[in-house]
Amino acid sequence: MTPARIVVVGTGYVGLTTGACLASLGHNVTCVDVDRAKVSRLSAGRVDILEPGLADLVHRGLATGRLRFVVGARDAVRDAQAVFLCVPTPMGAGGSADLRAVEVVTAEIGDVLPAGCALVTKSTVPVGTSKRIQAMVGRTDVPVVSNPEFLREGTAVADFLGPDRIVVGSDDLAAARWVGELYAELDAPVVVADAASAELVKYAANCYLALKLSYVNSIAELCERLGADIALVTEGMGYDRRIGRTFLKPGPGWGGSCLPKDTSALVKVAESVNYDFTMLTSAINENIAQRDRIVAKIAGAVGGTLAGARIGVLGLAFKAGTNDLRDSPALAVSSVLCALGAELIAYDPAVDGEIAGMTVVDDAYQVAKDADAVVVLTEWAEFKHLDWAAMAELMDGIDVVDTRNLLDPRVIVDAGLSWQGVGRPRAAARIKVS
Ligand code: UGA
Repeated sequence: MTPARIVVVGTGYVGLTTGACLASLGHNVTCVDVDRAKVSRLSAGRVDILEPGLADLVHRGLATGRLRFVVGARDAVRDAQAVFLCVPTPMGAGGSADLRAVEVVTAEIGDVLPAGCALVTKSTVPVGTSKRIQAMVGRTDVPVVSNPEFLREGTAVADFLGPDRIVVGSDDLAAARWVGELYAELDAPVVVADAASAELVKYAANCYLALKLSYVNSIAELCERLGADIALVTEGMGYDRRIGRTFLKPGPGWGGSCLPKDTSALVKVAESVNYDFTMLTSAINENIAQRDRIVAKIAGAVGGTLAGARIGVLGLAFKAGTNDLRDSPALAVSSVLCALGAELIAYDPAVDGEIAGMTVVDDAYQVAKDADAVVVLTEWAEFKHLDWAAMAELMDGIDVVDTRNLLDPRVIVDAGLSWQGVGRPRAAARIKVS
């Protein structure tokens, strides 16, 4: 298709990825933000977000002139053919999505959008938002299109450029199709839908992933009680193509900036139409229970009481490959440990700075020093390759609690330590350390 003039409002990880990737597909993209300092950093090619490939795309976009960064949406949109809204929609009071940022931008640009310009929502917005935006803009010559993103943090660029599908939805189907064509360069199926269906796809997908993870965490708990091994159970399940092999890893609970907020929001959306989405509520409750079971496991590893125990924490980010701490299960577990009186020494390869309730160090071995137990909370591959014999030397206790089933239990046992994961048989230390 011929390159389009696109404006992306919001330069967070979704907006910046969207802008840089659309520019790499040949479109002329202007990214807008209210944060003047951020706009000058990005204009100079400085990317703060840890996202593989993103900085390169930004540099290339700036060099080719197809990507630019400005402050002020009102001026930027005046000759746009499509405006993508990529502003935050955080969890608001009571669990619903907070749409204030979307509303502010819509009010700012509504009357200056050129006729025919598609106003596209990329941010995750509750079903019905397209209609609400359409009413706010109050114009029939500006179609509103929902085009949800399915980007995972840490692989956002790869996900954008190699998507499983593109979803575009609008009550103006021609506009939806046109937005779908912006991705023509990518070899992906395009689902064209009405606005409500497109909006619901995003929630339905994220909530399904959350359900899957809570289910797996429950099966892992059953494994522990029944003497089975979750690694073998999920291997056996995963060969079933209807189930698939991904999103079957148990852990300290699911977190991040999306799954917790989207599950709460969908429960609220369901309530608004008098549907009690008990299955989803159970998944959310199970996620809290999982955190508590992990805390109990760690308490068990230090003899039952956390007060005064020194715990070495490996990993703080909500998953490996990102420095994002939002709704991180690692922080949720840590804060309970801290509240119960444990002393926490933590290391994460992508996180530095101060975090309340713990001492953050810049080296994994410092975490082990005098620790009663070491706990893996984020699945960074580098933790697998630590010198565990050296870790054992530094530790006071012998317990390693691996909440991500990341480590090789044999390596831990050979180092003279005890290993316990989630839903897997324990591997006890062979050598008794005094
Ligand atoms: C999620 C979705 O996967 C994306 O498709 C979606 O676009 C994005 O939210 C969004 O709404 O923007 P993300 O938040 O980056 O992406 O994180 P995930 O990779 O989905 O992981 C979520 C949580 O589940 C993490 O805490 C992770 O550690 C946990 N997880 C994931 C497991 O415990 N086990 C697994 O097997 C997979």
